[in-house]
Amino acid sequence: MSSSSSSFIALVLLLSLFFFSVNATAKFDDLFHPYWAADHFSFDGDAVNMKLDNFSGAGFSSKSKYMFGKVNIQIKLVQGDSAGTVTAFYMSSDGPKHHEFDFEFLGNTTGEPYLVQTNVYVNGVGNREQRLNLWFDPTKDFHTYSILWNQRQVVFMVDETPIRVHTNLEHKGIPFPKDQAMGVYSSIWNADDWATQGGRVKTDWTHAPFVASYRAFEIDGCECPVTTADFDNAKRCANTGGWWDQPVMSELNVHQSHQLIWVRANHMIYDYCSDTARFPSVPVECEHHRH
Ligand SMILES: *[C@@H]1O[C@H](CO)[C@@H](O)[C@H](O)[C@H]1NC(C)=O
Ligand SMILES: *[C@@H]1O[C@H](CO)[C@@H](O)[C@H](O)[C@H]1NC(C)=O
Repeated sequence: MSSSSSSFIALVLLLSLFFFSVNATAKFDDLFHPYWAADHFSFDGDAVNMKLDNFSGAGFSSKSKYMFGKVNIQIKLVQGDSAGTVTAFYMSSDGPKHHEFDFEFLGNTTGEPYLVQTNVYVNGVGNREQRLNLWFDPTKDFHTYSILWNQRQVVFMVDETPIRVHTNLEHKGIPFPKDQAMGVYSSIWNADDWATQGGRVKTDWTHAPFVASYRAFEIDGCECPVTTADFDNAKRCANTGGWWDQPVMSELNVHQSHQLIWVRANHMIYDYCSDTARFPSVPVECEHHRH
């Protein structure tokens, strides 16, 4: 093959990758709508801004629910003083026995680091908090936060680096969330009773409004009509053959495992699995998780 035709092929491949990734990113309105305080939203080109002031927080939710797949959202967190505020990005099902996968970004005073708290609820029970600081300032630029969910694992990712894995341990008799469709949500609210330095630092309303920005919305998953029972959705979504369900996605690859080890060694500041004061007997899934 001549070099000009191979570079032509390379160009075509590059262009098709480009168009594919452009197609994969949806506009806010295609996937989401405000569910709390629509008047606290503003739209700025591709970006959506949500603000917290002394009147209200704000939130948006996906129009559909999903079972398995991957959600990516780029977020730029509140700049300057964000103490007392929490910005959350999460997936959740409904009802008292709901499942939930949470990112909660805990604000701080100007110049002090944001913390990222993650949590997993299974059958209505959470108490699985982990906390990290980040290897960049999340208020300066947009970064991609993702939740990958399949029948083997839930993976929380920051710029494609895994920061947490919740593994399916059903073979050990431990319930795993795979029977309820979940919506995708984000919200910003005042949580100065607990969020910053254990609640000691309160929200300074003279610095309001507190603004979080979002863009590049992607949901690649098995969509679940609300009119269909969870049982039927679960059956259908277990067999879509989606990329997220391929055997290679059933656990982290070697590179990702190394990334997770690095994150845990350098950025983790709290793990419920090692909090023996809070949990005198180690939570059952902690004994089996490999990390
Ligand atoms: C805020 O900054 C303080 C001081 O650097 C730090 O101890 C704390 O973990 C940070 N984050 C939160 C949410 O309190
Ligand atoms: C909200 O904050 C603004 C600016 O600090 C202040 O002027 C206003 O009175 C506050 N409103 C309420 C309802 O607290």
